[in-house]
Amino acid sequence: MADIPDRRRFLSICTTALIAGMSGLILTPVVAFVIGPLRRKAGNAAAESDFADAGVIESIPKGTWTLRPIEIVRQDGWVKTSQSRSVWVFVKSAESNGIKVLSPICPHLGCPVPWDAAASQFRCPCHGGVFGPDGARISGPPPRGLDPLEYEVRGKNLWVRWQDFEIGVAQRIVVQV
Ligand code: FES
Repeated sequence: MADIPDRRRFLSICTTALIAGMSGLILTPVVAFVIGPLRRKAGNAAAESDFADAGVIESIPKGTWTLRPIEIVRQDGWVKTSQSRSVWVFVKSAESNGIKVLSPICPHLGCPVPWDAAASQFRCPCHGGVFGPDGARISGPPPRGLDPLEYEVRGKNLWVRWQDFEIGVAQRIVVQV
């Protein structure tokens, strides 16, 4: 008769352990799903996702500036957003890796700056800012040259890291948006 309470206690411990084990099996993937995006956000996943495909390098005209569309996909926690942008790309020749990428946003007040092939200059239509063929400031109100953007060659494609910069200041300061 004395072993009945022991058996009950043993069964109670087994039941508790079983419930704990099953709870762990169920909750582990749920917790991973919930905190996964937050952990990724804490790392540099956001920065990596700012790289966007600007197309096959071979298809980009050589020796001139070309405006290339990019699609920036950002994962912010559980929210995924997509933004369309354009970047100025210069590929020197098919043989060389002479690639330059510039933001088209004027550092004066943010107007999009077109390339004037005849003058071999970037000319801002808003207030007459003029930039050289390397994006350096030549004249007008812009306080600095056009902002260069980082890029990577991945396979045959050019990937560009989009960044926004503070406008109206001489220093190149990245703005988090
Ligand atoms: Fe380009 Fe003012 S916005 S010169």
